[in-house]
Amino acid sequence: MLLWREKIPADWLPKVLGNLPAVLIDHAHLERKAATSAINLEKHPELFDRVGDLNAIAIEELQHFQIVLGLLRERGIPFGPSVRSPWISGLMRTVRNGTRQQCLDRLICCALIEGRSCEKFQILAQALAPIDPALAQFYASLVESEGNHYATYLIMARHIDLAETERRLDWYLDLDAQLIREPNPEAMLH
Ligand SMILES: [Fe+2]
Ligand SMILES: [Fe+2]
Repeated sequence: MLLWREKIPADWLPKVLGNLPAVLIDHAHLERKAATSAINLEKHPELFDRVGDLNAIAIEELQHFQIVLGLLRERGIPFGPSVRSPWISGLMRTVRNGTRQQCLDRLICCALIEGRSCEKFQILAQALAPIDPALAQFYASLVESEGNHYATYLIMARHIDLAETERRLDWYLDLDAQLIREPNPEAMLH
């Protein structure tokens, strides 16, 4: 796993545990967006030989989306609108133009989102175990899958251009550290 340069802020977990319905709606959208991100990567010629792998990720994310929708239904939480994540927007707005650079930056941003999700799902699985065992189990079940997505995206980027990926990853880890420190009052995953 990545060596993050900044810890998840201490107020994140209590904020999330304090409003699980909002977090589950946000999580549903996160899985939906993860599926569309995987499909959108398929337009880059650099990834034409990885379309099958990207489809596999998109299918898995859609399955996660369906499971979260099921949890919302079971818990009587109506599906609601998506809330903008300042952390994700902060990463995505730095994606450069030009197909090769755009492709590398998008892969790295997707890897960071998957990596942070993996880390946060682990924390949630532990924290929820005594309060909400079913939800804890669900988050624990996602850790491996999101960890694999993180690794797959990074491998894809390194395969296109190893030196440039390392250079950009170094830059993006600093940006992640800066963005994650910015206060976000919303109960959401990122
Ligand atoms: Fe997912
Ligand atoms: Fe994922």
